[in-house]
Amino acid sequence: MATTGSPFLAMIFSAPFSTSSTKSDRCVRAPENATISLQAVRFVWRKSLNKVDKPSQGPDRTEALAQYRRRAALYELEMALFEPIRRRAISRLALRRGDVVLDVGCGTGLSLDLLRQGIGAAGRIIGLDQSPEMIEQARERVAQNHWRNVTLLCSPVETADIPWMADAALFHFTHDVLRRPEAVANVVHHLKPGARVVASGLKWSWAIPANLFVWSAALHSVTTLEGLDRPWSWLAERIGPLDVETLLLDTVYVASGRLADRV
Ligand SMILES: C[S@@+](CC[C@H](N)C(=O)[O-])C[C@H]1O[C@@H](n2cnc3c(N)ncnc32)[C@H](O)[C@@H]1O
Repeated sequence: MATTGSPFLAMIFSAPFSTSSTKSDRCVRAPENATISLQAVRFVWRKSLNKVDKPSQGPDRTEALAQYRRRAALYELEMALFEPIRRRAISRLALRRGDVVLDVGCGTGLSLDLLRQGIGAAGRIIGLDQSPEMIEQARERVAQNHWRNVTLLCSPVETADIPWMADAALFHFTHDVLRRPEAVANVVHHLKPGARVVASGLKWSWAIPANLFVWSAALHSVTTLEGLDRPWSWLAERIGPLDVETLLLDTVYVASGRLADRV
């Protein structure tokens, strides 16, 4: 559990899952459980202190690669609860047949099917992700479905050589990407005038207790807490005001906007 899930979950679940059959066994294992729990608490505490201590510190690429190497196997299971938000975000893109769309931080490719339904066979999807373990699953999905109009690039978004100008871009649960101004700039640089953009993900809530959920989910899925109050701010700076909708007690947002038509 500790190696595949979050330390937060490991901390909660380590005691009930560590049952022992004999009395002597129990005597030996109880301190071990306590040690594991203590280590998990220390790990989470250190991680969050690092992030809270340095609120202006941006995303960390090495940590993100390690995070998604650990998460890749269980990622789709962990995201199941958030699937209605994906559908909402993609519907906000208002895709049209033949559109070229960027799936920024595409992960295992969970958005590909819905994006394809919007753009049809004549459109094109470009998925970008820096994690080899995540994008490998996206590649398998594309191969299994024989999708010929999906191009996947394993690259940091900020340096990606994006081969087409796009009509739309999706940033779904990609806080680390959104908090890199150079990554946002590279995407916007590859958008056609009038392109639609949607970003969605976690945010700090006005409901203080709900932030325990945001905090634990964020520790597990992002490498910086910086900007969690307005994760879309760099995007808004580039493309102008966004329409921001919040859901689940203000812990999740869907922000949408449109690049100006150039004159
Ligand atoms: C929470 S996952 C979201 C995946 C996908 N958008 C989805 O909806 O399931 C975040 C993804 O962003 C990727 N990522 C984070 N920082 C990145 C960067 N700078 N460049 C490219 N990918 C990045 C991670 O590798 C991970 O796959």
